[in-house]
Amino acid sequence: MPSTLPEGEVAPRDGSLPETAVREAASRPLGFYLHVPFCASRCGYCDFNTYTAKELGGGGSQASYAETAVEEVRMARRVLGRLDRPVETVFFGGGTPTLLPAKDLGRMLAAVRNEFGLAAGAEVTTEANPESVDARYLEELLAAGFTRVSFGMQSASSHVLKILDRQHTPGRALEAVKEATAAGFEHVNLDLIYGTPGESLEDWRTSLESALSAEPDHVSAYALIVEDGTQLARRIRRGELPMPDDDDLADKYVLADEMLSAQGLTWYEVSNWARTEDARCRHNELYWRGDTWWGIGPGAHSHVGGIRWWNVKHPSAYAERLNAGESPAHARETLDPETRRIERVLLEIRLSAGLPVEVLDEPGRTAATEIITNGLATLTTNNHLVLTNRGRLLADAVVRDLLP
Ligand SMILES: C[S@@+](CC[C@H](N)C(=O)[O-])C[C@H]1O[C@@H](n2cnc3c(N)ncnc32)[C@H](O)[C@@H]1O
Ligand code: SF4
Repeated sequence: MPSTLPEGEVAPRDGSLPETAVREAASRPLGFYLHVPFCASRCGYCDFNTYTAKELGGGGSQASYAETAVEEVRMARRVLGRLDRPVETVFFGGGTPTLLPAKDLGRMLAAVRNEFGLAAGAEVTTEANPESVDARYLEELLAAGFTRVSFGMQSASSHVLKILDRQHTPGRALEAVKEATAAGFEHVNLDLIYGTPGESLEDWRTSLESALSAEPDHVSAYALIVEDGTQLARRIRRGELPMPDDDDLADKYVLADEMLSAQGLTWYEVSNWARTEDARCRHNELYWRGDTWWGIGPGAHSHVGGIRWWNVKHPSAYAERLNAGESPAHARETLDPETRRIERVLLEIRLSAGLPVEVLDEPGRTAATEIITNGLATLTTNNHLVLTNRGRLLADAVVRDLLP
C-alpha cells in the first residue's frame, strides 16, 4: 500500500455505503486486509505506510493498535449489516505484522471471525520479516487460526540485503520456513526482489536456488521499484547507486521463471508462482478479480461494490477517528463502469487464466489480434487472452496497447 493518499469524494463520517454497493458486494467473495503500520527499522526502498517507534512519537501506540483495529472490524459489521456471507480470506500485511505479539494478531483475527464468520477452508495469511518470528511465535499463529505465512526473504546475498537495509541474514529466511513447516503451516511464501543495485545475475541465481531449497509452496518475485521520496531514490539521484536496468531486469525475470518452473512452481500471475492451485494466494486473487475487501488500518484501501475508499494515513489520526466512534475513511471514489473495465484489463491480463476478450472495446480487440500475431499472447478456447513468456516480459506495453 503506497504511503501517499489521493484526494477523492468526501467519505461519510459513519462509514455508510450505498445500498446498491452492499447488494453487489454480497454476490462476490469477501476478504479482509489488516494493515499493521509498524517496523523495527525502515528499508530504504520501501514506500509503504509504516512507522518505526521513533517516527511514531506519542500517538498511535503499538500496544493499543489491536484494540483500535478491532473497533474498525466492528464498524465494518455495522456498515455491512445487510451483507450475509462469511469471509474467504484474511491477510495481515505491513509494515511488520509480526512485530505485534501473536496474541494481538489472534485478537484481530478473532474479531473478523466473530463479526462475520470465516468460510470453511478460509485462507488466513500474515506477512512476516524473517527475523521477527521464532518457532514458538509461529506455533501461536497456527493455534490462532492462521493458515499461511509470507516471509520477506528478498535475497540470499549479504551485500544485496545490505543495500536494501534488511536486518536479517541470508540464512534466517530459510530457518523461518523450516520453523513454519515444523509448526504445521502447509502454505509458506517467500517474497524475493530482483534488480537491486550491485546484484549480479549469479547473485540472483543463488537467491532463487536458496529460496527453492527451503521448498516453499509459493514464491513472489518483484522487480525492485525505485519509489519517489525513498532513501533509495535519493541515493540513486546522488549517483551513489545505479538505477535498475531494464535488460538486466528482463534477464532476471526469465531466469526466475525457468528456475521456479523447473522445480514445479507455476506462474499464475506475472510476479507469482505456486506449487499447486491450492497454494495460490486467494487473497491477492480477490484483489485481481475486483471482488469485495475491507482494509482495516491506517492508509488501508477497501472496495465494496464499486465504491473504493482509503483510510487516514497516520496511526494517531486513525486511532482518534475510531476512538470518537467515527469512520477512519479519509476519502472515497465511485468507480464508473469504464474505470472498472480498465482496471479489469490492467489486472486480469497479468493472470495465467487470462483476460476475457469480451472485456475489451473495439480498438482493444483490434490491438489484441496484433498482440497475438506478434507472439505476445495466445487465445484460449474460451476466448481469454493469455500472455506468452515474451508477453509477460512486456506486460506493461501490452496493457498500453489494449487500452488505446
Ligand atoms: C511492504 S513488505 C511488508 C512485509 C515485511 N515487512 C517485509 O518487508 O518482508 C511486502 C513486500 O513488498 C515488496 N516491496 C516493498 N517495496 C518494494 C519495492 N520498492 N520494490 C519491489 N518490491 C517491494 C517486498 O518484496 C516485500 O516483501
Ligand atoms: S520491513 Fe517491510 S514494510 Fe518495513 S520498511 Fe522494510 S520492506 Fe517496508
